[in-house]
Amino acid sequence: MTASPSDRSDIKVTETGNSFDYSKPYAYEIKGGNRLEGDIEISGSKNAVLGVIAASMMVDGPCTLENVPDISDVHVMFELCRSLGANIEQVDQHTFKIDPTTINTYKASGQLVSKIRASYYLMGALLARCGKASIRLPGGCNFGQRPIDLHLKAFQLMGAKGARPSDIDSGIVNLTADPLHGAKIFFDIVSVGATINAMLAACKAQGKTEIINAAKEPHIVDVANFLNAMGARIKGAGTDVIKITGVPVLPGNFTYSIIPDQIEAGTYMIAAAVTGGDVTIHNLIPTHMEPLSAKMREMGYQIEEGDESIRVYKSSPDDEIYPTSVKTAPYPGFPTDLQPQTVVLLCSARGQSRMHENVWQNRFQYVPELAKMGANINVYERIAWVDGIDSFRAARVEATDLRAGAALVCAALAAKGTTYITEAKRIDRGYEHIVKKLSSLGADIRRVNIEDSYSEDTEA
Ligand code: EPZ
Repeated sequence: MTASPSDRSDIKVTETGNSFDYSKPYAYEIKGGNRLEGDIEISGSKNAVLGVIAASMMVDGPCTLENVPDISDVHVMFELCRSLGANIEQVDQHTFKIDPTTINTYKASGQLVSKIRASYYLMGALLARCGKASIRLPGGCNFGQRPIDLHLKAFQLMGAKGARPSDIDSGIVNLTADPLHGAKIFFDIVSVGATINAMLAACKAQGKTEIINAAKEPHIVDVANFLNAMGARIKGAGTDVIKITGVPVLPGNFTYSIIPDQIEAGTYMIAAAVTGGDVTIHNLIPTHMEPLSAKMREMGYQIEEGDESIRVYKSSPDDEIYPTSVKTAPYPGFPTDLQPQTVVLLCSARGQSRMHENVWQNRFQYVPELAKMGANINVYERIAWVDGIDSFRAARVEATDLRAGAALVCAALAAKGTTYITEAKRIDRGYEHIVKKLSSLGADIRRVNIEDSYSEDTEA
């Protein structure tokens, strides 16, 4: 058996500081042990903005998006939209003017599509705009099967041709609206992506659509609010049943601001907690954080909520941290995208905790990496049994996917010594200016170019 990349303990740092080069392989170098202290701002939500950018492709006029996070997934999504002919102009770091009226193709079949999962939203958006969509199957972080059968089922119920799984031709989905009409769509599994895609397609379909057992995540509501601001008629987003009355035109000409990122906020809450820190996280929506806040309180952390902020701290360094049991579930349940970071938090408890991954088939792939840092975790099927440890130790580890990488960052911040997290570009896909933000809280973290890489481009 060949050693996996991160089984190798050697790492050769080649460039740092001003000579650092993003196009070369790089790692995060984290000298752990610093207590995080201070204030930080949360950026716009990755999973909301990706849906909103796709939705903007079906609008009949220009729009302006504010609070767009500066992350690589967004850059890829914009590149993809430009490849369709859309005109996208950056006004400032977080504001973009989008004019989709120049779109000249319904085809998105190049490699860019498989760089991000959210490219699948172009199926719904282009069907609505062009009456046709020819889209390569998206890839995805590898945590088990990631089918799109529910997306296709919704399109089929709305009258699209080419939406049977057997119609997929060499990895390309070729959809034709014939035309699209409203439909009653029941999802037997709660799916964020399928809910958004069905909502997009239904906005311009003839008649009424009802999506039953819809996902309720904050980003579903954000995409619906954006579309309504553009002229759509969507009711019930954020509940189990979304009702949409199709309209022929979405006029646009509106400025819309993206909601704060629930997962980024949760990651910083955990980073503050595991370093024994005292951090106030601003520009978040406290109700979105409730599943995590409740668990952290149960464990013994102090969580103080403001209108748009949360302070995380321990009332005394010697406070006992208690074990707990967590089960991921669709919103308003505990978010699966905070599962790996929360496992790091559970490592800080005295005693055994349990994490049950209820959304994805295989989202514990990072556990062997965390074990290199001293974690004591046993995974059986979808449950991880986490025994508390006194402290993490530094190691060379690999970010196996975006949130796994974020979990390793949390562990490295708490660890004694210098940790190298390779494949750090996976983390940069979803966390705006993470090095700068953590440094402002007192962390010793930087990006360093390293000699070799084992990377494949992946997506969320
Ligand atoms: C979105 O993925 C997010 N990605 C994921 O975040 C997140 O983990 C996930 O929702 C769950 O919250 C984006 O928004 C870009 P799903 P998505 O469809 O839409 C099954 C991150 O770290 N399913 O809600 O692809 C599926 O297998 C990323 O930011 C079907 O069976 O997830 C899974 O078990 C990673 N058939 C469950 O539903 C389908 O057609 C939920 O998946 C679709 C999904």
